[in-house]
Amino acid sequence: MIHIIFVCLGNICRSPMAEAVFSRMVAEEGLQEQIAVDSAGTGSWHVGEMAHRGTRRVLREHGIDYEGRARQVTREDVGGETYVVAMDQSNINELKRRFGDDLRVYRLLDFARESNTRDVPDPYYSGNFEHVYQLIEDGSRGLLEMIREEEGI
Ligand code: 4NP
Repeated sequence: MIHIIFVCLGNICRSPMAEAVFSRMVAEEGLQEQIAVDSAGTGSWHVGEMAHRGTRRVLREHGIDYEGRARQVTREDVGGETYVVAMDQSNINELKRRFGDDLRVYRLLDFARESNTRDVPDPYYSGNFEHVYQLIEDGSRGLLEMIREEEGI
């Protein structure tokens, strides 16, 4: 099994959205038996909570159900061969601070084609969940392509 984990700050807005969008893409390509998708936050404030209502609303508008609950990232999550995919540079800095500088971590929007933005803006503050959805979809498409190539699937 190939493991992907999306990481943001709170695990209630951006990384649950990325988990849901990427999971649907994986299923659409018939790869759900080969790729496992998860998400977590660097912070612990929202552990146990459902995704933000803005995230749930925009996912629903795009026909995606999401039932996950927030949790904090652990060392086990980021070990081994897991693809760790952060939403912004501050997530990467925090992951490296906590788990070591040699942690292999990607930034989702480095795989985006349509946008030059490299950090997914936090809709917790901006309220713009649809814009975040579009960025995440763009990055996810490129990420899945990279993984398929890397893994030969
Ligand atoms: P997320 O958004 O990292 O996309 O889940 C946030 C959620 C909560 C907080 C910050 C960002 N917070 O400060 O509580």
